[in-house]
Amino acid sequence: MLSCIQPTGEVHLGNYLGALRNWVSGQHENDVFHGIVDLHALTVTETPGVLGDQTLSLAAMLFAVGLDPDVATVFVQSHLPQHSQMAWIMECTVSYGELSRMTQFKDKAAKREADFVSAGLFTYPALQAADILLYDANEVPVGDDQRQHIEITRDIAIRFNHRFGDTFVLPKAVTPKAGARVMDLQNPENKMSKSASGDAGIVYMLDEPAAIERKFKRAVTDSDSVVAYDREKKPGVANLLEILATATDSSPSAVATKYSQYGPLKSDAGAAVIAMLAPIRSRYQELMNDRSELARLIRRGDDRAEAVAAATLARAHAAIGVLPR
Ligand code: TYM
Repeated sequence: MLSCIQPTGEVHLGNYLGALRNWVSGQHENDVFHGIVDLHALTVTETPGVLGDQTLSLAAMLFAVGLDPDVATVFVQSHLPQHSQMAWIMECTVSYGELSRMTQFKDKAAKREADFVSAGLFTYPALQAADILLYDANEVPVGDDQRQHIEITRDIAIRFNHRFGDTFVLPKAVTPKAGARVMDLQNPENKMSKSASGDAGIVYMLDEPAAIERKFKRAVTDSDSVVAYDREKKPGVANLLEILATATDSSPSAVATKYSQYGPLKSDAGAAVIAMLAPIRSRYQELMNDRSELARLIRRGDDRAEAVAAATLARAHAAIGVLPR
């Protein structure tokens, strides 16, 4: 099992419910690899000196949510040259047309409008395919927004295997039943996202309880005052039901039967999220207080990951028939 997260901005509730929670629950049954993908973040990084700190802080968050360094391999993408090396092979196995059809590229490029749109933003899925295929991943636990990226990875693997012989394992995306697409509390038509314009609709993992309470109280719902689970017609209410259901291990429709008004639903959702995040926040603070231990844990993950990545890269080179050094 493999999945990764970018060190851009703060980790939010969408990341946690859509992906990180599944990483933690999967770590005892699977051989799991989780990358902090700082090379992906380079596609939009323009300020010097911040990426390293964000990488360290994200590592602390991954351990704080419950990844156990004894069983889960947490590594930093740029520490392993194999990711960049494999990415080139992937770029030569994916077509311009396929990359042009990626909705995330189209969205991100459109959002950046007059801003600089790097070629890396366009070839991003090739680097992501490298991340996944280097670890022979069968399953990739992600939120809904990453499905297309996992599908293109599968297509790339199939094409490579067809050209050069069976080399890569074909991966599939795994998404949670509820929480795969957590929406912005202010704009429930849009997913909760680090690149959103304002913070009022985003619940960050490190938000103070009072801020979380306020964000839920002000959550946008609708005007018909009926609590029912309908993602199409009632996106705001459905989002609150999903969040409360995931935080209390229930289902959104079961939760819906317990409420007749929006007010109590909002405050219970806020309270459940505060309770869920409290232990994570305190573990995060502890971890950030011992940076040398954190660096040691990362080094251990890097070493374990590199052993696997180097073997897969060598296999790909051999399959292609690159002249050995
Ligand atoms: P990233 O860093 O944007 O997000 C990390 C994970 O959080 C999930 N997620 C959400 N889930 C539910 N609701 C939301 N509102 C929400 N927002 C984010 C994402 O689906 C993701 O699982 N391209 C990837 C990083 C990546 C990767 C990989 C992932 C690079 N290489 C290899 C898997 C495998 C990304 O930008 O995720």
